[in-house]
Amino acid sequence: MTDSGATSLLGLSEIADVGRDRIRGGYSRHVFDSADQMLREWFIERATRIGLDVERDRNGNLWAWWGTPGPNALVTGSHLDSVPGGGAFDGPLGVVSALDSIARLRAEGVQPTRPVAIVVFAEEEGSRFGVACLGSRLLSGAITAERALALTDADGITFADAARASSLRPEHMGLDSETLSRIGLFVELHVEQGRRLIDLDAPVGIASSILAHGRWRLSFTGQANHAGATPMRDRRDPVVAAAATVAAVPTLALDTADARATVGRMNIVPGGTNVIASRVDVWVDVRADEDHVTRELVDRIRSTARDWADRNGCAVTVTEESWTGRVDFDEEPRNRFVTRLGGAPVLPTGAGHDAGVLAGTVPTAMLFVRNPTGVSHAPEEWASRDDCEAGIDALVSLIGSEA
Ligand code: GLV
Ligand code: MN
Ligand code: MN
Repeated sequence: MTDSGATSLLGLSEIADVGRDRIRGGYSRHVFDSADQMLREWFIERATRIGLDVERDRNGNLWAWWGTPGPNALVTGSHLDSVPGGGAFDGPLGVVSALDSIARLRAEGVQPTRPVAIVVFAEEEGSRFGVACLGSRLLSGAITAERALALTDADGITFADAARASSLRPEHMGLDSETLSRIGLFVELHVEQGRRLIDLDAPVGIASSILAHGRWRLSFTGQANHAGATPMRDRRDPVVAAAATVAAVPTLALDTADARATVGRMNIVPGGTNVIASRVDVWVDVRADEDHVTRELVDRIRSTARDWADRNGCAVTVTEESWTGRVDFDEEPRNRFVTRLGGAPVLPTGAGHDAGVLAGTVPTAMLFVRNPTGVSHAPEEWASRDDCEAGIDALVSLIGSEA
């Protein structure tokens, strides 16, 4: 990090060395791994130091309470895990801004009239177990415990086993109505993942909506064989079918208004240079403005995959691994926040968030802090010291007026 002012201001410097990825660059912090554990310990220590009481819910989310835990709480926070090779701000900015805001309000002698809490959600990125926002999905019942616990990571470790190794009780995981019912309002501050605040020349904005989005796994199967001994016409090579499908994805997305479709992960089995593969898994992330538009694009990708599988003597199965419909954040509190923040701009986002998962269940809002690079999910993700301060000022103002 070069902007040491911003990082020391926000406490990001304290975690700057945790989970650095020497191979990919940036950070790789995945739920229940050693980096995640260190970040959780750091959060508990930081929150305790400013006088908050920390508890972990039965789904592995951390809650730091200012006042007695109870109903109608004003909750802020975000997540500490990252994508593989991710930036320093996606997630942690919301957590450190929450800590700094509450520390400031407490130092000013503010006495909230309702409980206030900072939450750290588990596995927001879905980088280890494939499904994003597992902590908020489990909490709100958007995924069943049965399904979540059976998810496996790249090493075949189940979410249940990883949770157990972190002293959680899998049999107690799942919809947590008691914890959920405490949330009166959830406000997530997040670095912007896009360029709208740059174009608007504004340091802070308020979220209007999130694109519909989901993840699909395309598994192409063929016949493993010898690279030298198998004539080209005798092959059933799933790599060829997968590659042709992947090459078609951008064109299909470009033909769909405002859609985005991404292949960021593929796995070739068994993965030998001199081996025709037996299977290729391709993960496609698809997003669009409307649910049905997203699903129609997935249908077109599915039929393209079938076509290329057929042409190569292969088979393909398509599995929906996660789905989040379009989110429109509540007009209230959004309108209240716009007024409170002096007419802050309202903007949509293409990125998923725990706030989006919770929006269907509890009143929810989001604040975005300008990202001068416009880059996210990569080491170039950034926010300046001044803009981080503006984000904290906004959060202080909202917590001060709402609590
Ligand atoms: C998370 O940041 C996502 O949008 O996938
Ligand atoms: Mn992210
Ligand atoms: Mn995030």
